[in-house]
Formats: sequence, C-alpha cells, structure tokens
Amino acid sequence: MTLLVTGGAGFIGSNFVLDWLAASDEPVVNLDALTYAGNLANLASLQGDARHVFVKGDICDRALLDGLMATHRPRALVHFAAESHVDRSIHGPGEFMRTNVTGTFTLLEATRAHWMSLDASAKAAFRFHHVSTDEVYGSLAPEAPAFTETHAYEPNSPYSASKAASDHLVRAWHHTYGLPVLTTNCSNNYGPYHFPEKLIPLMIVNALAGKPLPIYGDGMQVRDWLYVRDHCSAIRAVLAGGRPGEVYNVGGWNEKPNRDIVHTLCALLDELRPSPQGPYTRLITHVTDRPGHDRRYAIDARKIERELGWRPAETFESGIRKTVQWYLDNAAWVADVQSGAYRDWVQKQYGG
Ligand code: NAD
Ligand code: DAU
Repeated sequence: MTLLVTGGAGFIGSNFVLDWLAASDEPVVNLDALTYAGNLANLASLQGDARHVFVKGDICDRALLDGLMATHRPRALVHFAAESHVDRSIHGPGEFMRTNVTGTFTLLEATRAHWMSLDASAKAAFRFHHVSTDEVYGSLAPEAPAFTETHAYEPNSPYSASKAASDHLVRAWHHTYGLPVLTTNCSNNYGPYHFPEKLIPLMIVNALAGKPLPIYGDGMQVRDWLYVRDHCSAIRAVLAGGRPGEVYNVGGWNEKPNRDIVHTLCALLDELRPSPQGPYTRLITHVTDRPGHDRRYAIDARKIERELGWRPAETFESGIRKTVQWYLDNAAWVADVQSGAYRDWVQKQYGG
C-alpha cells in the first residue's frame, strides 16, 4: 500500500505528508518539481524516515510518471502540484497552463495506464484525488448563498481558469474511462509553511520587518479561511470514504474581509511581539487593486459534513493565533525562503 502525492513540498502538500505519516505507516512517494514554492525544509522532520520517498520531478514528464507507477504501484494518488498564486498567473499565465492543465492531463493518462494494469479488486479500490479550489466558481455577490458543488463554473483569473480546466479533465476521465476520481474544492488555507507571497504570511513577515502591509483596493474582498491541517483532514476523509466521481466542497465557515484579517494579524503581533515603533496598523497601505479581483468566496461545506462527518477542528481565532506563533518561532524558515528569487517577485509585484 503506497500513496503517491504530487506537490508534497509545497504549503498544503507538505502539511498533508507530515500529518499523513504522523497518523499512518502507509508510505508516501512525494513527487515535486521544487519550483520557487516547493521547499524540502518543510519536510526536514522526515529525514531518514523510510516511509517518505522524495522524487524531484515534473508532473508533465510522462516517462518519469510511468517509471514511478511501475516501481511503487500506488493504490491512490493525491494531486496537489500546481502553480497556485493568482498574482503570478496575471504576470505570467503560461506556466499555469503547463503545470495545471497539461500536467494534470499527463498525470491522468499515466494514472489511467497504471490503473488499467491492476486486478479487479485493486482497480475498484484505486483513487485519484484531485485537490482544487473554490476559485473555479468565480465571485459571489454580497448576499448570495455560498458555493455548493453544483454551482456553475465561472473562473475569472488565469489561475482559476487553469484549475477549472483541470477539474474538467478529472471529471471527463471518470465519465469516459471510469477512473475512480475524487475532487475537493477548498477555500483559502492558512497555517505553517505558507509561502510569504500570499496574504496572511506576507502580512506577518512584512510587519515583523517593519515593511508596508499592502492591502489591494478597499480591502473589503471576502475570503473563507480554513486552517491548513483541517484541509488535510478533509482530504483524508474524502480519500477514505468519498464516492468516486463526486465533488466535495471544503471550507471553514469563516468569511472575513481582507481588512479584518490584516487588523487581526496586527493585533496578535502587538500582543506577541510588540514593536517599539508602535502598533503594526501604522504599516497598512492601500495599493492598486488586483486586476479582475474576485469580490467574495464562501463555501457551503454541508455535503462533506453530511456524507463523511467532516468539520474543521480549528476556529479562526485558534488557527490564526497558532499561525502567527509559528511564524514567530520559525524565523529561520522565513529567512530561508526569502531568497533572491523571492525578492525579485516582491519588487515586480509591489515596486519599491
Ligand atoms: P504551493 O504553490 O505552495 O505548492 C505547489 C507545489 O507544487 C510546490 O511544491 C511546487 O514545487 C509543486 N509543483 C509546481 N509545479 C510542478 C510541476 N510541474 N511538477 C511537480 N511539482 C510541481 O501550493 P499550495 O498552496 O500548497 O496548493 C496546493 C494545491 O491546493 C494546488 O493545487 C492549489 O490549487 C490547491 N488549493 C490551494 C489553496 C490555498 O489556499 N493555498 C486552496 C484551495 C486549493
Ligand atoms: O480560494 C482558494 C485560493 O486561495 C487558492 O486556490 C489559491 O491557490 C490561493 O493562493 C488563494 O488565492 P487568493 O487570491 O484568495 O489568496 P491571496 O493570499 O493571494 O489573497 C487573499 C486576498 O488578499 C485576496 O483578496 C487578495 C488580497 N491581497 C493579497 C496579497 C498577496 C492583498 O490585499 N494584498 C496582498 O499583498
């Protein structure tokens, strides 16, 4: 019994691998290209652990995928690998099409060939779990009900369009070939190992460095925040008990405007690491809005609760406090990811 995970050196993937191996002895083969977002330091605690096999490689590499399937004979895949940052997709959509669309297609084809080689009972038990996002559903009006699994697809950014395309491929491989797929569409995650290009870690890291806290536009865009380990437990629940071909929405029942998130982070930092220069809110700046910025996301997570009994364990208050504390305790990890390439990105996106 082996699990093949793609993108397991990224933010959610590494949390998933760590949680998985803390709870189970089933080995994990972790395929990751180690782009700017992949970081083996996230998995340092697994060094020397024979249950974790790391393979540096690209999901677009069919020969590599075929070799991994033949060697490890996985009983399931969990597919995290993707380009994941909306702002980067606006500057350069090409890599999003390559990894998120062509990469998912290549992985589906390699998986199908492997699945076809299994005997009947292994074939029936096999699962391809596709990790997707609520952004495929587009933007909600302020009073509109939260996204259910049957909400129309209306992706608005190159990132969300590429994820929507990958969702459609996964769906088609089930309907046409019978591949036993599962798809989860999750809301915004936060927690340990979150790369500091995304809102929450960027604000923590900038505040601690005394740098501006750049809020796009009026800061009233709403996201539904979920602690990353709750997302991992949702994936485990769906992998174990989800019905093949089904989609499960995953969310935290935690809708908050960006402005409130930034104020909460400032208040926690004022408490945990006060600055001699005064409250961190002094660093807040409003900057030009993201082009095509979605106004609101919200997930209706009743299906996964009803069918699989999953609910998040953390409240936003407990999860965000743990997260801020993690960044305070892991300054070396932050310093490590702030490489030259990271500085180039900050310069490109935020200017001086
Ligand atoms: P991330 O950017 O932190 O990590 C992505 C990982 O994929 C990195 O380790 C990277 O090296 C790897 N990767 C990229 N291209 C690859 C390729 N061609 N071949 C192999 N590996 C490659 O992303 P994340 O935030 O951990 O997101 C993981 C998945 O969850 C993505 O599919 C994303 O769309 C989805 N998702 C993310 C969120 C969120 O809030 N972060 C919410 C819902 C869904
Ligand atoms: O909804 C799930 C999605 O959440 C995932 O699919 C994506 O992979 C993930 O990156 C995330 O996308 P968002 O665009 O919502 O996350 P981000 O952290 O980039 O931004 C969150 C909100 O904060 C968004 O409204 C934009 C705003 N923002 C972001 C940054 C980086 C700012 O106001 N200032 C910033 O500097």
